[in-house]
Amino acid sequence: MAEEQHLIFDEEQPERYVYDMDETKHEVALSTKDLQVFYGDKLALQDADLKFERYKITSLIGASGSGKSTFLRSLNRMNDSVATVNGNIMYRGLDINSQDIDVYEMRKHIGMVFQRPNPFAKSISDNITFALKQHGMRDKQQLDEIVETSLRQAALWDEVKDDLGKSALSLSGGQQQRLVIARAIAMNPDILLMDEPSSALDPISSAKIEDTLMQLKEKYTIIIVTHNMQQAARISDYTAFFNSGKLVEYDLTRKIFTRPKVQLTIDYVNGNFG
Ligand SMILES: Nc1ncnc2c1ncn2[C@@H]1O[C@H](COP(=O)(O)OP(=O)(O)OP(=O)(O)O)[C@@H](O)[C@H]1O
Ligand SMILES: [Mg+2]
Repeated sequence: MAEEQHLIFDEEQPERYVYDMDETKHEVALSTKDLQVFYGDKLALQDADLKFERYKITSLIGASGSGKSTFLRSLNRMNDSVATVNGNIMYRGLDINSQDIDVYEMRKHIGMVFQRPNPFAKSISDNITFALKQHGMRDKQQLDEIVETSLRQAALWDEVKDDLGKSALSLSGGQQQRLVIARAIAMNPDILLMDEPSSALDPISSAKIEDTLMQLKEKYTIIIVTHNMQQAARISDYTAFFNSGKLVEYDLTRKIFTRPKVQLTIDYVNGNFG
């Protein structure tokens, strides 16, 4: 393994801005400036500037192909091998889109949960401890504690506490997705990126994921792509609407859904689109 290079984030001082949204002070966990993504010659995302408030949920909405996943995946450098990503992604005083960032180290701070639950073919507890052990954590008691706290935070503990040695693949889809969330939390991240985390799930499992996210925002900043507008309206504090690779409008969720400013957004949230 390459020698670990520590990123020097200014832990004390997240960026501070005054939003023009409602004139109050907001702590910014992550922000993008002129973020632009090309797949080959194709411009898939144009100059997106966004500021994500700490301990809030921000939803990214828009039609299929509008660039939501492209934007989200760029935030923790998941697009590096398939796309050219220009612009700045500021996190605790560092531009994490710059070439000299240790991407693996950065991803401990900015984790990702995908649409399809992707647990490892290992036991429930091994799913959570695997990466920690890779990083050299050996203390059994400490590992057990992290398993329990992560599963509790992901609202899965009560369902699996007597079966931690059971294969993760024997869990239901909704349980697997909460396990994957627990696995992400175990790394003690700051920001969780989620790409349609409940779209492959039944309504009850999806509601559980929503409840889980509402709890998680006490400790994490969450950025979530969703196709489900009711979900965006229910769970998110802020909403960003994308169309054809452009960020069209970004505001408090209640404003986006009750009095958006841009005609395209009005049409989209009212379902008169395309
Ligand atoms: N790996 C890739 N290579 C080439 N083009 C891509 C790639 N990934 C996405 N695109 C293109 O970039 C554009 C934006 O895609 P993206 O996946 O970001 O949309 P999305 O808003 O997430 O859509 P969906 O709601 O269907 O998931 C689309 O035109 C898509 O075809
Ligand atoms: Mg997508």
